[in-house]
Amino acid sequence: MELCRATLSRAPFLPAAPPSLPVRDFRKRRVVCLSSGKSESTESPKDTQMVVSVTGATGFIGRRLVQKLLADKHKVRVLTRSITKARFVFPVENFPEIIIAEEEEWKKCIEGSNAVVNLAGMPISTRWSPEIKKEIMQSRINVTSKVVDLINHTNAEVRPSVLAQVKLKSLMRLVLQEMTTYQRFSWIHLDDLVNLICQSLTNPSYKGVINGTAPNPVRLSEMCDQLGQVIGRPSWLPVPDFAIKAVLGEGASIVLEGQRVLPAKAKELGFSYKYPYVKDALKAIVREL
Ligand SMILES: NC(=O)c1ccc[n+]([C@@H]2O[C@H](COP(=O)([O-])OP(=O)(O)OC[C@H]3O[C@@H](n4cnc5c(N)ncnc54)[C@H](OP(=O)(O)O)[C@@H]3O)[C@@H](O)[C@H]2O)c1
Repeated sequence: MELCRATLSRAPFLPAAPPSLPVRDFRKRRVVCLSSGKSESTESPKDTQMVVSVTGATGFIGRRLVQKLLADKHKVRVLTRSITKARFVFPVENFPEIIIAEEEEWKKCIEGSNAVVNLAGMPISTRWSPEIKKEIMQSRINVTSKVVDLINHTNAEVRPSVLAQVKLKSLMRLVLQEMTTYQRFSWIHLDDLVNLICQSLTNPSYKGVINGTAPNPVRLSEMCDQLGQVIGRPSWLPVPDFAIKAVLGEGASIVLEGQRVLPAKAKELGFSYKYPYVKDALKAIVREL
């Protein structure tokens, strides 16, 4: 997956997202690629408290991101389609400090936020048809357009300075069935992805587009071997459903893309992976089950 980070402070306006490929246009005009060779800032996020608005915060990546932002003492505004759902995900007794807002309140939340993270979109973990694929794409375009529009209509003094967005590279690339067991694919542990997003919010060297993948892609057969070892079952035995789901499904900490993508820019930036190897990532996932 790709992470885009747009620096907004010097740009008076983001281009309005066109109906087809919103992010591509950002890249041409305002989003600077995360390709700087500078190393990570030594400044801890704790030194600079931010207000961060997050769409899709109730989802797989968003939940972990919100927890991490709160742990780093930032303030979080959850932009959701449903307060009821969001309150269920973030119960007030555990998350008293977050603000939850439905769409009509998004503008107010974005005003005064230092950063916006856009993770919203219809889930991809569903049986796909041409119509569903269109809906999956359209849902992302709609939310991105709305967020960009709201940012554009925010006064410069209260405009967020960063927009970060995790995006699908191409829906077709995510079709696991098209892979052979010998084809290498890229993956990333959820904690590393969340750390990468957080770095992009706090570190100005993280600009533009960065591949959110671990540095060591694996073959499907290797991953099955490793998973077999981690859960103590020979890899020639069928891997149990719960384990496959844990790795590939919604509750997974491994994120698949149907191609080998290397995180050259993250490496250039000196991003430090907690889980560079799939075996360690799998161990961590299984520990959490
Ligand atoms: N997880 C992965 O493996 C993976 C891989 C590549 C890229 N990504 C991208 O990263 C982003 C976050 O992924 P995720 O796995 O955390 O997503 P997710 O669990 O499916 O959650 C996405 C959130 O988007 C909102 N949403 C759902 N349907 C929507 C719709 N039709 N229109 C607008 N908003 C909708 C929901 O939030 P509310 O109900 O609170 O509004 C939901 O919690 C997505 O854009 C995804 O495409 C994820």
